[in-house]
Amino acid sequence: MSDRLIRPARNIVGSLRLPGDKSISHRYALLGGFAEGVSHFTNFSTGADCASTLACMTALGAKVTHTGPNAVEITGVAGRVTPPQSPLDCGNSGSTMRMISGLLAPQSGTFTLIGDDSLSRRPMERVRKPLAEMGARITLTDGHAPLTIEGTTLRAIDYATPVPSAQVKSSILLAGLQTAAATTVREAVRTRDHSELALRAFGAEVTRTTNSVSISGPQPLHAIDAAVPGDISSAAFFLCAALLFPESSLVIDALGLNPTRATLLDVLTSLGARISVLNLEENHSELTGVVQITQRPEGLGSVEISGALSAQLIDELPVLAAIAPYTTGGIRIRDAKELRVKESDRIALVAKNLRAMGAEVTEFDDGLDVPGNQSLHGATIDSGDDHRIAMAFSVAALRAEGETLIQGADSAAISFPEFFDLLDRIAER
Ligand code: S3P
Repeated sequence: MSDRLIRPARNIVGSLRLPGDKSISHRYALLGGFAEGVSHFTNFSTGADCASTLACMTALGAKVTHTGPNAVEITGVAGRVTPPQSPLDCGNSGSTMRMISGLLAPQSGTFTLIGDDSLSRRPMERVRKPLAEMGARITLTDGHAPLTIEGTTLRAIDYATPVPSAQVKSSILLAGLQTAAATTVREAVRTRDHSELALRAFGAEVTRTTNSVSISGPQPLHAIDAAVPGDISSAAFFLCAALLFPESSLVIDALGLNPTRATLLDVLTSLGARISVLNLEENHSELTGVVQITQRPEGLGSVEISGALSAQLIDELPVLAAIAPYTTGGIRIRDAKELRVKESDRIALVAKNLRAMGAEVTEFDDGLDVPGNQSLHGATIDSGDDHRIAMAFSVAALRAEGETLIQGADSAAISFPEFFDLLDRIAER
């Protein structure tokens, strides 16, 4: 893994368009690969995680062709995959492993799913359990990958998810699509709804209430053409970077603004950002818009993130915590225990790296309290080969005293290979 030196910046200025949303790209790859017909996607995610999903779907019989920069054509298997000869490698991607488990559990054949060291430590019981209730035959290794699926006929269920997880919900819906009755998933906290929207776009009937989603099987899926919205979780790094400088001005074009993901903009606004959203458009029910961010003259205040907000902002919490010392009132995060079972233990690594940069921070089992009005100094950052930790501390480094070395910086390519180039483009030094 390679390291990267980040120099402090004077300001953030520019206009960007970001590669496609990782969550939506995963779903389009899975559903396009499973549907009947030929789908075309533009602005598809350039991250290694979505490449893992495409590779798995190829191994299962879909035909994937890269038809242009960030453009993908997928010929689907029309509802019946071909069991591969070798294990399906999900790389670093929890989304791939969890969602594909639901897709494959009702198919014929034996499937083994493997991942890298990080993914092989992540909890998979959360998908095995509901799928087993549907009749699936799934074997884990001590609660983790490698995971083996003996495909079999499944029955519909009504399931309340014990942890808020869009991946688990999606896994159940993909299995439910292939049963002979109606499957319902109930959530205490509404998680991102890209699967529901994508299933509808591919022609499936999905019904929703405030806290549940139902799908009846069996339903065929039909190919679509779609443009993937820019990734708001990738944008989070630049939006937070812009907040570190009073004179900053950043515009992000065609950014995904699905309401289950755009909570970030509300939190940044309450922290002290001035945000305007223009040119709202909709493509297959996914919203996009042009987002402009500047800072209010008063600077950054404080924010407390807890309850449902923590689940909705789960991928943005590391960068919010990393800029917290530069606020006046600090940032307090609770109810975010899930951060401990992401690509790394993100609570522990954020605390460790903030301390390495000279900050005071209190760590809780389910969050962090980072006081404001602290100045940071450059340090050596342990990214844990976790893309979001590497990028979060590259942002914190922009206002630190001295240079910061990000160890394992190339892990950014898991979701955002262009991150460092774009950061250099908007950071004035
Ligand atoms: C994702 C859901 C979240 C998120 C992950 C992507 C998705 O995980 O952290 O980066 O695409 O459904 P959980 O479902 O485990 O909360």
